[in-house]
Amino acid sequence: MTDAIDVLRSHRSIRRFKPDPVPEEDLLRAVEAGQQAATSSNIQGYSAIRVKDPAVRAALVPLTGGQAKVASSPLFLAICGDTRRHRLLAAREGTDYQPNLEGFMLAVIDATLFAQNMVIAFESMGYGTCYIGGLREDLPAVHKVLRTPEGVWPLFGLCVGRPDQDPERRPRLKTDAVLFDDRYPEDEDILAAIDDYDRVMHDWYRSNGIDTPDWSARIRQHFEEKRRTSNAAWYLGAGASFE
Ligand SMILES: Cc1cc2nc3c(=O)[nH]c(=O)nc-3n(C[C@H](O)[C@H](O)[C@H](O)COP(=O)(O)O)c2cc1C
Repeated sequence: MTDAIDVLRSHRSIRRFKPDPVPEEDLLRAVEAGQQAATSSNIQGYSAIRVKDPAVRAALVPLTGGQAKVASSPLFLAICGDTRRHRLLAAREGTDYQPNLEGFMLAVIDATLFAQNMVIAFESMGYGTCYIGGLREDLPAVHKVLRTPEGVWPLFGLCVGRPDQDPERRPRLKTDAVLFDDRYPEDEDILAAIDDYDRVMHDWYRSNGIDTPDWSARIRQHFEEKRRTSNAAWYLGAGASFE
């Protein structure tokens, strides 16, 4: 196994951090590594807003569903899909900028690859990380706090710092439950793989003090209700198009 694969396989989200700051050079190394991720047609449709001001961090905690780590992590980045550059350069030359679903997806995919490359870089330097999808809990308020202009879409946050906990890795589905040959499998094969995983996760939840019977129950609960239903309208209002 290469060192990179060791780092990838050791991942677990870290939710408690030591107070040590993240030196600027480590942040810049991670951002450069993030930027070197592949990007659709080299559009580089992303940006990260580092939130340094403690008052702004504190303001973000209730907006992310009360996640205290958003304020207490040494580094917090708000990762955005960013089409602002593309719009500005079209406006400067007086050419059209046509938003559509494809453009929205390009920015979301690019921003995610950028962020995940940063996560790998941080973890390879011994930092712990935790993504914060809670950043989409209240997009109108997050947008006001971060002053994101039209065409810039907050997607998720990222907490970074030296780990102050050593959680067990969370097992995943077996590889043959996600890697298929030639054609998509039958539903009963999918469900059998899930039953298998449920047995693993049942024990994992018990030994980690999490009150859930198994993965199936967690997933059922997760998708029982529509979540964050106003976000489509917010993204549309912020210059996205889903056509
Ligand atoms: C896009 C994204 C958003 C996430 N949002 C949150 C979050 O708001 N709060 C949190 O504590 N963990 C969050 N997580 C972490 C996941 O819960 C975690 O990755 C998953 O349970 C698997 O655990 P592991 O990362 O420890 O392997 C998020 C992960 C991703 C990829």
